[in-house]
Amino acid sequence: MSVTLPPSVIGAVSPITDMENLDIRLRADATSRRVALVAIASSVVWLLLGSVFGLVASLKLHLPDWLVANPALTFGRVRTAHLNAMAYGWASLAMIGVSAWMIPRLVHTELRIPKAAEVGVWFWNIGVAIGVVSILMGRTDGLEWLEMPRYAADPFLVIGGGLIGFVILATLAVREVDHLYVSVWYIMAAYIWFPVIFVVGNWPTFSGVESAAVNWFYAHNALGLWLTPISLAAAYYFIPKILGRPIYSYQLSLLGFWTLGFFYSLNGMHHLIGGPLPTWMITTSIVASALMIIPVLAVAVNQHMTMVGRFAALRYSPTLRFIVFGAVAYTLVSLQGTFMAFREINRLTHFTHATVAHAHLGLYGFVTMIMFGSIYYILPRLLGREWVSERLISWHFWLVATGLLIYLVPLTIGGIMQGVAMANPDSTWEQVVTAMKPGLIGRSVGGALLTAGHLVFAWHVWLMFRGARARQGLPPFHAVVPTVVGESPEASVGGVR
Ligand code: HEM
Ligand code: HEM
Repeated sequence: MSVTLPPSVIGAVSPITDMENLDIRLRADATSRRVALVAIASSVVWLLLGSVFGLVASLKLHLPDWLVANPALTFGRVRTAHLNAMAYGWASLAMIGVSAWMIPRLVHTELRIPKAAEVGVWFWNIGVAIGVVSILMGRTDGLEWLEMPRYAADPFLVIGGGLIGFVILATLAVREVDHLYVSVWYIMAAYIWFPVIFVVGNWPTFSGVESAAVNWFYAHNALGLWLTPISLAAAYYFIPKILGRPIYSYQLSLLGFWTLGFFYSLNGMHHLIGGPLPTWMITTSIVASALMIIPVLAVAVNQHMTMVGRFAALRYSPTLRFIVFGAVAYTLVSLQGTFMAFREINRLTHFTHATVAHAHLGLYGFVTMIMFGSIYYILPRLLGREWVSERLISWHFWLVATGLLIYLVPLTIGGIMQGVAMANPDSTWEQVVTAMKPGLIGRSVGGALLTAGHLVFAWHVWLMFRGARARQGLPPFHAVVPTVVGESPEASVGGVR
């Protein structure tokens, strides 16, 4: 069964496709294979654990008498275990796997000392496991996003992350290409930025207001200089690659990269609006939040213009479908964030569930969806076999897309109503909680659908690792690319590369 696409989908071969010949890709994949597989497999385990914690935390907010006897299952611990399992277990490990796979391909160089990176991934996993268990036992550092114990869990993350970062940077140092595609810029920068902010964030000498400022310098930059750049790097890699056409503008991609680095790093204090910090610090972060429109629009315009005329390909490529969803969510969450950083709006939303909705539009709609898309592309190439079932991929996509919508809409509306009720000195606490309850129930329904989608995805990944055979004929559902790019080297291997 060969898929024939409308002429509009057929484009020129992208520079990446052009540059990468099959031999280079095979050698690159051979060296990154184990690291990427271990990182991706463990990330999926964390995704399942994190979903259970998230769903339990969500249910507890409207069923407050449920699971209260065991301290490990109280809201404060389960919520925090959820955040850490998702941010450091699922999202970070998936990004490590995806970036370790992308870099050797992009710089035409075998991954240096891949064994060290694999050991790094194991260390990282041990660190997160110690961190999450400690949190459930009630031992934390008491700083948001930095709850994992500084001396028990963090050293494993520092050593593990250090090993992986060293391998990525060592590979870049001996690269065989001069030109660095924008994805390489983002990944390289993320592996330099993250260790700096992680060590500064965990530095034990700060206290009081200083500690809060350093805490949010770290937490915001964990989002902006770690999770965001690697997710953007994946979007910049896969969109042109699957469409078989170059990215719309090289200049725009550079503008987006540099302005992200300059402005995002100044954003952190917008999490402390209204807090006891010098006004100039808060105001600087609000100005920087407004300036974030520049990198966000640069990415949005660039990726949209690359897609224009090729939207039909979304029907054929699951990778593209997840990644374009993620790219659109990036624009939306960033514009929403800029508004939420203005004092007048933050006053209303700060202590409400509208912030939690924003967090999930970013971490789920953007980061998680891009990681799903990337994994759909990478696993068949590393395991040498096609995804078992188109239907499972479709179920996964629609469960999580619908689940996210049901998660976000009631929570955002409920969060705003919560903010309005809290701002009214005449309203009682009971009225505030009642205003919020439908939003919380809606979030649990959405969260249950997301969890169901994760189970479908994890089952499919499990089948892939076990070596199950694809049920459909070849060339497979998601191998539209070789049909599109015609004479490219990819065509010669039936799209499996
Ligand atoms: C099964 C899907 C998910 C469910 C049911 C869920 C549920 C929840 C709940 C109930 C909270 C606590 C909200 C509160 O403190 O009031 C929360 C917070 C959080 N979740 Fe999730 N979540 C899910 C997926 C994810 C994913 C995939 C990520 C990251 C990749 C994530 C990251 C976070 C973060 C960072 C917070 C803290 C947000 C804040 O304090 O503003 N969640 N989640
Ligand atoms: C232009 C870009 C963005 C701006 C200006 C922005 C701004 C904000 C603001 C003002 C808050 C609320 C602070 C509060 O009142 O407590 C917030 C929270 C948050 N944002 Fe964004 N945001 C942006 C993009 C993103 C992206 C891309 C992600 C995900 C990758 C993200 C994830 C989060 C999370 C997880 C929180 C909750 C943090 C917590 O309380 O634990 N944001 N953001």
